[in-house]
Formats: sequence, C-alpha cells, structure tokens
Amino acid sequence: MRYIKSIKIVTLSLVVSALLVGCGDSNTLSSDLADNGNATSTEKLLGSLVKGPIDGATVTIYDESGKEITSSLSNEGKFEISISTFTSAFYTIESTGGTYTDEATNTMVTVPDSEGLQTLVTKSELEEMIKNKKFASLTPETTIFTSLVKENLNDNNLSMSIMKAKEVIYDLMIKDSSPMPDMEGDSFLTQGDLTKAIPSNSTEAFAKNRAVSFSNLVQSLGVTPVEVFDVIKKLQEDYKDGKADSVEISGKNVNLSREYALARKRLFETTTSRLRDGNLTQEQIKELETMGFDTNSLTSDKSDKDKVLADKVTKYLASTTLPTLHILPTMSDEDGNTNDAKATYTLTANKDVDVKIETPTGSWTTPMWRYNNNPLPLVIRTNRGNAMTLNFNNKLDADSTIHWHGFKIPAIMDGGPDVPVKANDSKAYTFTMNQPASPLWFHPHPDMQTGKQVYMGLAGVYLVEDEISKKLEADKALPSNDKDIVLLVQDRRFDKEANGVRKLLYKTKMMDADGMKGSTILVNGSVMPKQEVDTTQYRFRLYNVSNAKTYDFAFNDGRKFTIVGTDGGLLNNPVEVDHIMLGAAERIELIVDFSQDAVGSKLLMVSRPFKADMMNIMGETDSNSSSDIDNMEDNGIGLTIMRFDVTKEATDDITLYSALPTNAEIATRLDPTTAVNATNSRKFVMSMYNGGNGNSNGMSGMNENSNNNSNSTSTMNMTFAINGKIFDANRVDEFVGAGTTEIWELKNMSPMAHPFHAHAIQYQILDRDGVPATGTDLGWKDTFLVQPGQTVRIIGKFEAINVGDYMYHCHILEHEDAGMMGYFRVGDTGNVKIK
Ligand code: C2O
Ligand code: CU
Ligand code: CU
Repeated sequence: MRYIKSIKIVTLSLVVSALLVGCGDSNTLSSDLADNGNATSTEKLLGSLVKGPIDGATVTIYDESGKEITSSLSNEGKFEISISTFTSAFYTIESTGGTYTDEATNTMVTVPDSEGLQTLVTKSELEEMIKNKKFASLTPETTIFTSLVKENLNDNNLSMSIMKAKEVIYDLMIKDSSPMPDMEGDSFLTQGDLTKAIPSNSTEAFAKNRAVSFSNLVQSLGVTPVEVFDVIKKLQEDYKDGKADSVEISGKNVNLSREYALARKRLFETTTSRLRDGNLTQEQIKELETMGFDTNSLTSDKSDKDKVLADKVTKYLASTTLPTLHILPTMSDEDGNTNDAKATYTLTANKDVDVKIETPTGSWTTPMWRYNNNPLPLVIRTNRGNAMTLNFNNKLDADSTIHWHGFKIPAIMDGGPDVPVKANDSKAYTFTMNQPASPLWFHPHPDMQTGKQVYMGLAGVYLVEDEISKKLEADKALPSNDKDIVLLVQDRRFDKEANGVRKLLYKTKMMDADGMKGSTILVNGSVMPKQEVDTTQYRFRLYNVSNAKTYDFAFNDGRKFTIVGTDGGLLNNPVEVDHIMLGAAERIELIVDFSQDAVGSKLLMVSRPFKADMMNIMGETDSNSSSDIDNMEDNGIGLTIMRFDVTKEATDDITLYSALPTNAEIATRLDPTTAVNATNSRKFVMSMYNGGNGNSNGMSGMNENSNNNSNSTSTMNMTFAINGKIFDANRVDEFVGAGTTEIWELKNMSPMAHPFHAHAIQYQILDRDGVPATGTDLGWKDTFLVQPGQTVRIIGKFEAINVGDYMYHCHILEHEDAGMMGYFRVGDTGNVKIK
C-alpha cells in the first residue's frame, strides 16, 4: 500500500502512434489517391499507442463495416501499418493486448487480448496522415471518442457525429480538469506521437498528461491498473447521453468525470512537488515546460503556492497603475428628516447595468445586476432603535427578495424564499433595528436563484451604530469617519473581452455546482485597488460576500492587526492576529496600524495560501473518496487583495479600547445552562454525496425528499444535505420554542468546509470539537465556517420578535440553491409550512 501511494507518475503512455510509414513519396501517394479512391499501392500509417506506451500490442485497422483491413504489432508504443485500400468513409484503428508500465504504480501491466485502445479517422484524415507522415494517436480519450462517434452515427452523419463526440469529450473530460486554469493547448487530440520523451508542442504534452492521469484515476478508485480498460468502458457508457453521471465502481457510486479531474490535479501537484524536491528528469521538466508551466517559479524552497503569492506581491508592490479603491456610496433617507428615528429607502433591482471594472491593466465594462442602477453596492447606515421602511422594486424577470442577513426581525420581513417578490412587483420591508452596532448586509434570497442574483451583483451593506460604538469613536478608542472603510471582497469569473465588454460567467464549469468561484477578486468593485492612508490606525469592515470562496486574510509583511468585531458586532476584547480566515458571508472589523510605516511605503492585503480541505482529507485517508475538487485550484492559492499606500504623516490619536464598557449588551455571554436543550443540543449534520436519490456513502434512505432542486446547467449530480434532507419549500424541519435559549450542534460530515448560516438572531460559539471558544470565536456571529469533520456548538436566544419561519443553510450559495437549507419555526408547533 505504502509503495503504491508513494510512487508518482509523470507520464502516461498507452499512446498508440499509428504511423503508416514510408511508402515512397507523398506526391505519388496523393496522386494515386486522387486518381483512384482505391489506392492500389501499399501505404503506411504511423501511430502511437499510449496509456503508457504499449509494447507488443496487435494494432488492426477496420473499415466502417468492421472488416479487418490489415494489422501489425506495436513497438514501445509506436506502430506502423501497411495499408492498400481506401474505400471506407472512416476507419477504426484498434490495439489489443501488449504490455505497458503503469505510471501510478510503476508496475508492468499485461493488457488482455480482448482489451485495448481505439481511435477513429475519416478516409481523408487517414490519407492526409499517411501523406504527411503524421501519427494517429490512440489514448483512453480517443477510445471513448470512437465509441461515441459510432453511437452518434445512428442519428447523424459522420462529420456531425465526430463533432458531437469531440464536444462531449472536451466538455466532460478536458475543460474542467485542467491542472491550471487558462493553459493553452489542453484540447482533444487524435493525431500526434505521444511516445516522445519531450512532446513537440503543448497539445501533445497535455494529451500525454491526460492519458497518464488515467493511471492516477484508476489508483484513486482503488482498482488495479489493468482495470483502466473497464473504467474506459464505463465512461463510454456514461457519456452516451452527453452527461457525466454517477457510475458504480466496486460497489460505490462515483462520478468518473469528477474523479478524473481530481486525478489530473493530483498528478500535477505530485509532479510539481517532485520538481521542487529535485526528483524530475530533464525530460520531465521539459515536458512540463512544453505545457506552459514556469518550472523556475516552482523550484523555489518554499511551496509553489507561497512562491506564486510572493511573485504577485512583488509585482503589485511595484505597480504604478492600481485603480483607486471605490468608497461605497451611502444611501440617503428619503423622508426628508435625517434626525428622526426613522428612514425610508428605495431599492430597485435592475438587470444589465453597465459597470466599469477597473484593474491594474486598464478597465472593461461588465453588465451587472444592481440596485438603483448604481455601479457600486450601496450602504445603508442606521442607529440602533431606528425604524426603516424599505421599498423594494423587483425589475428582474424572476422572483427576488431582500433578505436582511444577520438581522433580528420578524420572519415575515426577513426576505426568505417563502415571501418572494414577483417580477415587476414591489414590497415594503418595515422593521425597527434593535441590535448592537454591527456590520450586517442584505441580498436576494429567492428559491434556487440566490447564487445567481448575488453573483450578478445584488448585495448591499447595512451598518448599525449604537451608543457604545459612538462613544468609542468619540473617545478616540476606535477610528471613525474616513478612517472607517467598508471592504467588500468578491471573486468573479469574466468572459473574454469583446468590444470592451467582459460578461460575468456563472456556472459555466462542471465544478461550479460545488460552489461558484472565479479567479478575479473584486474589492468594492475593482481589481487590486489601492487606498491612500496616513500614518494612523484605520478600521476596516471586511466582508467576504463571495458566493463560495474562503479567504485567509493577512498582510504581505506578516504584520499583526487587531480584530475588533465579528458578524454581529464588537468584540468585548480586541484580538490581535496575523491572519484571519473568513468563509463566505462572514465579516470582521479590523484595525490596521500604519503609525510605524514610513511615508512612501506600501502594504498589501493578501489571502494566504492554505491547505485545501479536500487535500487534507486525501492526505489522511486512502484516496478513494467521493471527492470534491473544490479548493484545489482557486481556493487555497495565495491572492493579492488590495494595497495601502502610506502617503501622509499624521498624528495617531487613537488608543484602541481594550474592553467594552460594562453596560454594553454585546459584551454578555449566553450561559449554556440556561438553554432548554442544554443536555440535548439540536443537531445540524452537513453532508454531501454523489447522486440524487440516496444510496451512496452511507446516506441511503436518509434523503427523504429527492426533488432535484438544482437549476444548474451542470451535469454533476452532487447532493448537499443537512440532516440528510434537502430543502423542501413546504416543510419545516426544526421547531424552536418562543423566547427560548438553544444550543445547536453543527457537524460537518462532508469533505469540504461549509459556512453554516442561520437567520433570526445572532449566535455565540460555545466550542469547536469540544474546545471552548477563544479569540474572535467569542464574538457574535450568524455564519460559522465548519471544517470537514468538525463539530461547532453555538448558542442563541430567540426573543419575542422572532416569530415565524426562518432559514438555516450553507452560505455557499450554490449549495443553498441545491437544497442545503431548511426552515426552522420559532414560536409555533404546527409542522405545515405556512406561506
Ligand atoms: Cu445571507 Cu439566508 O442568507
Ligand atoms: Cu441570512
Ligand atoms: Cu456548503
């Protein structure tokens, strides 16, 4: 076992290079062919056979009727076949038997005489290959391709069948499995000599890499290397409908496309770590470089993730072209009296608002969905005790709502999916804010569309101030005014530029169903902005309002900073840290001290590389997990977020508070012994599994409601559940007594982290895996990042205002929309959902 795990494979070759070598000069050949569809002279087709290069395989060419034309034996992955008839519309080239070295296990595999690889070429392709001495390549992919073409032929003509088969292979196998995003050349290939130690171009290098990945795939599935041919057959079956579904391998349901993508990424990680350790041959290094990897940047002593971040830091510290941070606009009270204790606002949700996205390398326009046609997210500021009327107009062509995230308000005003506002309809949200000073926010929450609407740009900030926060500001115990800045961090994926426009892309990749992530980080709507500061302390309200992404915020010089607030308000005691991890929907307030920085110096806020949770899981267990690819490429890599430019000397008059005034309500801790369920906490078990109707990973029978909530374009079939159930709009799952204090136990039984969020009130963390809360975990919160395998106990006190049905859900919005959500009812005992 250990032996298998420790051996890493770099190239996979069961590439069959079919070479029809050598017959005379190509002019003669082509003229023969031109004269007569039936060539009379014997020509030679060359080829390469690669799973690893297969030696001693019988390679046979068949015509479209399945009649054997001719055959030969492969030698170290290459073959050469003489052929003299060219009468068929297409030919299949098939290998059977032979031996190769499996690269994941470094073992010699004897291919049964009934197994092998295939490819399919048209008559003109064959002629062209012969003429130009090009190699036919036979790989696992071309094998699947061949069966798909034949399958499609029932309904289509040949070229249509080929086109469709290529599309399926690209969509289901290649597009999302690339070890690094945006690499050129990772595309389907049917011609090329894949047996060369150094591939001649990136397309061949990637094709070889994909073929090798099959060894890793088979290894991670826990089956023997030779069973790769069974896996190929399963893929052929699975892809017939043009979708990737779950198939059964050794009694387990797995999504082979997903596993394959994972295998490719692991192969890449393994290869780069071997490179760092100096364990790659020159040829292997050259191969990586052919694929476009900067091997120098990967050979540093530090991990490649650290090195990549360090390079970005160097680049952006030096950049002279960073856009200036947008300060988010605060809405003004429409009732004409800014001194009364109530305010009126209007929010109109519009589609297709042209927003200019500024970046260090210029700008582009993106149509976004925004409130009030404003290019930026809006801020509402209020004081504790104030009433608000918010008139919401829905100008989207779908249901929407405004959900008040983190608010203690009646359920009917909460903007959950049960109280939708129809397209072109309006709703007035009215409530009185009676919570401590805190960084809250608002966003749409319609059934199954929340992820999309938030992603397209609908979200806003709601800042509450109270006597305590105002006194701290007045006493110079907290920075205020222009030294109190909201930072809204969101990742997005943009399409290629067309006429100065780059559209937002939502759920365009298979993996997006597991959480939509993008490689472009926006802070207040700009990429990598800078904010000028003077040599004093600043307070930043840092919001992670990404759909799915987790960040590990820090500064490039590793400096310490002070957290003064969490989701629900100020911490009783500020906590000094040098980094802070924030899951989707979590917020913190931090104080950064620039008083020791020289004028002219620059500081970058970064997100530190972190060990992806899936990778942790895989390191701990055998690799046969029903795994998720999340976190491998765009979660956990180091990111630069924004820059602070120290431009002015100033006297810092802030002496940060060390404890809140004793009368501060927010300083209290709830006493677990007052909970009605002190010895029997309410449990929320988060899980995910392949397939939509139970029967996998021990979840069998727990999926009471298998309505498929996913509106995703994805072909993946992952189910996200809480307590084994997926969301049902007509069902209330949990019943909480009016005015009670409860302890909830959030348990993550899945291989990825989930930010659990509950509406109605703010909560406090009691402990994580039994370890009592400390530091920032002592703050009030509404969203809790629960790591794989972790159990977090929280406590909350429901009050008189909390009546009705509220949501609890994962705040990875794609999980939520797919049904990782439920209703809890406060203050009622009926169990039928009331609309
Ligand atoms: Cu911010 Cu129910 O969500
Ligand atoms: Cu919420
Ligand atoms: Cu989740």
